Amino acid sequence: MYTDLKGKVVVITGGSTGLGRAMAVRFGQEQSKVVINYYKSKDEALEVKKEIEAAGGQAITVQGDVTKEEDVVNLVQTAIKEFGTLDVMINNAGVENPSPSHELSLDNWNKVLDTNLTGAFLGSREAIKYFVENDIKGNVINMSSVHEMIPWPLFVHYAASKGGIKLMSETLALEYAPKGIRVNNIGPGAMNTPINAEKFADPVQRADVESMIPMGYIGKPEEVASVAAFLASSEASYVTGITLFVDGGMTKYPSFQAGRG
Ligand code: NAI
Repeated sequence: MYTDLKGKVVVITGGSTGLGRAMAVRFGQEQSKVVINYYKSKDEALEVKKEIEAAGGQAITVQGDVTKEEDVVNLVQTAIKEFGTLDVMINNAGVENPSPSHELSLDNWNKVLDTNLTGAFLGSREAIKYFVENDIKGNVINMSSVHEMIPWPLFVHYAASKGGIKLMSETLALEYAPKGIRVNNIGPGAMNTPINAEKFADPVQRADVESMIPMGYIGKPEEVASVAAFLASSEASYVTGITLFVDGGMTKYPSFQAGRG
């Protein structure tokens, strides 16, 4: 546990499922005040809130679509109104929708970019605006992916969105470092969450993904949540502008593992 996270106000987009849920629960355990944004899954968001409260933490749920500017403004403003301030903004909401690139519709491209990249920009902007206006050394964490560096056929829009997040966060980190505002990315590899449920339900596809992970297993959402807690804490006080990969070594060219090449 990171004692300085106690009482901190933490907003998590897409906080009702998968990695967002694990982070919400973890920040609840840290005794932070957690704002769980959800898009459609109200019941799941309420379950997360209940879980946090049962462990003695505080949480609220806020519906909102991160592609809509007014929803992101409302999310941040609700956090500030309900809990008095904002300390940590985690832009986690994301979607995938694979397609051969030559058949990818503009709607599909826009939806992935709007959610993954523009949504993270809006969340970052609103949080940083509040930090600057109130002289808060706040923290932004954006959920990137190993696909900010590994190209991914059939997922050109997803890879472009995560590559965009890489330079967006690095730029924001540079721009606001003098104010003590830190901006970092987490780059998960293959994690056991709803986004992958269909793929990992098939033993052949699961084994195929596992073969690309030097550590040999699909990551647990808690293994991302612990990294988010570290990055948000003062233990990471000199860390800004990085992507911390949480990928069991997936970005380390696994095909070379046995000395090939
Ligand atoms: P997930 O599907 O459980 O989580 C995505 C969340 O985003 C859901 O709660 C969904 O409702 C929410 N969301 C989607 N569109 C939204 C919108 N317009 N407004 C607000 N919320 C919206 O899957 P997971 O894995 O937890 O994904 C979380 C993040 O982690 C995503 O950004 C994803 O790209 C990233 N990631 C996941 C990896 C994995 O293997 N699971 C690997 C690398 C990155």
